[in-house]
Amino acid sequence: MNIETVRTTPIEGQVPGTSGLRKKTRVFMQPSYLENFVQSIFDATGGAGGKTFVLGGDGRYHNAQAIQTIIKMAAGNGVARLIIGQNGILSTPAASHLIRKNGTDGGIILSASHNPGGVDEDFGIKFNTANGGPAPEHLTAKMSEIAAGITRYKTVQAADIDLSRIGQTHLGGMAIDIVDPVEDYAALMETLFDFDAIRGLFAGGFTMCFDAMHAVTGPYASQILEGRLGAAPGTVINAVPQEDFAGGHPDPNPIWAKPLFDLMMSDKAPDLGAASDGDGDRNMIVGKGAYVTPSDSLAVLAANAHLAPAYRGGIAGIARSMPTSAAADRVAKALGIAAYETPTGWKFFGNLLDAGKVTICGEESAGTGSDHVREKDGLWAVLLWLNILAETKMSVAELLSAHWRAYGRDYYSRHDYENVPVEAAASLMSGLKAGLATLIGQSFAGLAVQAADSFAYEDPIDGSVSENQGYRIFFDNGSRAVFRLSGTGTQAATIRLYIEQYVAPAGDHTTDAADVLSGVKAAAVAVSDLENILGRSDPDVIT
Ligand code: G1P
Ligand code: ZN
Repeated sequence: MNIETVRTTPIEGQVPGTSGLRKKTRVFMQPSYLENFVQSIFDATGGAGGKTFVLGGDGRYHNAQAIQTIIKMAAGNGVARLIIGQNGILSTPAASHLIRKNGTDGGIILSASHNPGGVDEDFGIKFNTANGGPAPEHLTAKMSEIAAGITRYKTVQAADIDLSRIGQTHLGGMAIDIVDPVEDYAALMETLFDFDAIRGLFAGGFTMCFDAMHAVTGPYASQILEGRLGAAPGTVINAVPQEDFAGGHPDPNPIWAKPLFDLMMSDKAPDLGAASDGDGDRNMIVGKGAYVTPSDSLAVLAANAHLAPAYRGGIAGIARSMPTSAAADRVAKALGIAAYETPTGWKFFGNLLDAGKVTICGEESAGTGSDHVREKDGLWAVLLWLNILAETKMSVAELLSAHWRAYGRDYYSRHDYENVPVEAAASLMSGLKAGLATLIGQSFAGLAVQAADSFAYEDPIDGSVSENQGYRIFFDNGSRAVFRLSGTGTQAATIRLYIEQYVAPAGDHTTDAADVLSGVKAAAVAVSDLENILGRSDPDVIT
């Protein structure tokens, strides 16, 4: 097998964001685009010679072709072995598990997560390290530095590999193991949860609707929920993954999973509604007439995790991203365990999980997970909910209100302003930054600012510092507003405004969230001069 060294030149903008490198699919389809970045991954991680990697993606448009390119480049770079999901498919948590289970040197995951797929939509690639988690910032920085000066990449000339047949094949001296994408993951889930108890729940007439949103989780959810746990056939809907997610936006929230959400608010609602995203790491949980915000879900799961076999001995600590509500902190306090507040993005949880400082982590963006892998895990969250419901014999609504009675309720909402011109977004953020020091004591829409800062994080394990991770403004009525720019978009800018308001255990937990949050929303709009700068006050998406 002849290794080819192909001359190339740097392509602008190969800079990973919150979660890997994401661009329009057509950008990835340009000659050398993928090749340049993959070579940069190999070079940034000390060369790929003799190493073993996991490879797979969420099956979106261009997945199959990109996988073939990467296989040939892996052979060209002297990789010893690749472990690839059948047909190039792996959910993000399943890839993380395979990396860990096989003790590999890491893995390459092709996904743009919850972003739409298709030739005119989004594509993405990220590298996960040997712990199964997304590459830390210093490594992604190295990748973009190498990509900015790249002069060559290595590959081999060969026919495409047939990825449909499970088993081992070779390309030159490189072994390729094609594995069932679901099996190892499903086996892992069986070790974490009480499948007998959940089977009993379904056998007793418990009903559920899981919306796989035409994305990668379909086969996983079908095999686990219907196959292993005895949920009624048809429990999993939109279960066949499609390259363009049937034209949808595979993000499990009340906006993009509206049909499921509407079903759950109707009198035909099953006992539990759940959904997952493009690559299977996000989740949405809805009970009959009861939407669970991701921040509340994290808190409820942490408070009740001991009901599942894997967490029976208790959890070590809880980590949440900064924009996530403080609900999880209250649980940590009650349990007498540590609570960590990290910047947005799962990569910041890796060190805490590896060091055994935390067991459960979560983000307001529908991501929850534990130390079983190093990614957030949509189905894991759904199975933990099922395990808890089976043990407590409560409905989702009952569990939620019991939780609020015990800890108080953190009313919460995120407002996204999408497609904002980059200059306008920059001006809003720089205006906020410039004013931070003088905000304290000033009032906006009737609320006085108690504290304000630009969030920075020092990793307690490796000491690395991440600055400028969003602006936090705390008001004197116990509410908080956070502004940050999205790092996963592929066009213009998205401003995220996160608002929350705490109401104590004895308070009223049944008011509409929008009403409770209207004061802090008005104050946030006033403090940022958002209406003037953006020319509008209504966001595109409220979750
Ligand atoms: C978004 C979410 C963030 C999540 C990331 C990847 O990033 O807000 O919590 O980790 O997607 O799923 P953002 O676009 O806000 O940078
Ligand atoms: Zn995702």
